[in-house]
Amino acid sequence: MKIQTQRLELTEISWGDIENIHKLHSIFEVDEFNTVGLPKDIEETRENIRPYVEAKECSPQSKYTWKIVLKETGEFIGLTGIKVSLDKFRIGEIFYKLLPEHWGKGYATEVSIRLIEIGFDRLNLHRIEAGCAVKNFKSIRVLEKSGMTQEGIYRKILPIRGEWVDSYIYSIIEDEYKRKMQI
Ligand SMILES: CC(C)(COP(=O)(O)OP(=O)(O)OC[C@H]1O[C@@H](n2cnc3c(N)ncnc32)[C@H](O)[C@@H]1OP(=O)(O)O)[C@@H](O)C(=O)NCCC(=O)NCCS
Repeated sequence: MKIQTQRLELTEISWGDIENIHKLHSIFEVDEFNTVGLPKDIEETRENIRPYVEAKECSPQSKYTWKIVLKETGEFIGLTGIKVSLDKFRIGEIFYKLLPEHWGKGYATEVSIRLIEIGFDRLNLHRIEAGCAVKNFKSIRVLEKSGMTQEGIYRKILPIRGEWVDSYIYSIIEDEYKRKMQI
């Protein structure tokens, strides 16, 4: 599945993207609120992303991971994705991460809003959620700007750099989305 936004193009990842992904995952600030952890080498990155690259071959597909590229220059700027439950709960969970030189330009919000549209309009979801470490203020802002609601806190759920960190849970429900879009 290929996706466009105003400034960005999203293409499902393949093994050809591994160097860009390894570079992204090796940046301290990108990993700060992430449970993946800094990879020791590119082989570790390969194993981390294997389920996400191979998910394209599964039918039905439950994991979609896209590289984010600037339309204007074709430059790789990050990754985003959605994991869907494929059951009667019809839940999707989104994530996004960008290279720091591209932070603060509204790209993550642009991506998140588009993923919410795709989730409800094309993937037939009922609920889309996102978790976010309680001190990840930039991500909190992205989720709020995307129309999601903070539901509560999972206590000490994220293993990050040797500590258990609290996570907010955000969501948007299909009725709220449809009301907003006046469908
Ligand atoms: C979180 C992340 C994706 C945000 O990307 P981005 O493209 O910079 O996000 P946007 O530009 O769309 O929005 C960022 C918002 O955070 C705000 N912000 C920045 N620093 C902030 C801070 N310290 N406190 C509060 N808000 C802050 C910005 O002002 C902006 O809001 P505004 O448009 O109302 O001014 C990016 O920082 C990143 O990749 N972080 C590492 C990976 C990560 O944490 N991913 C999320 C996992 S839940």
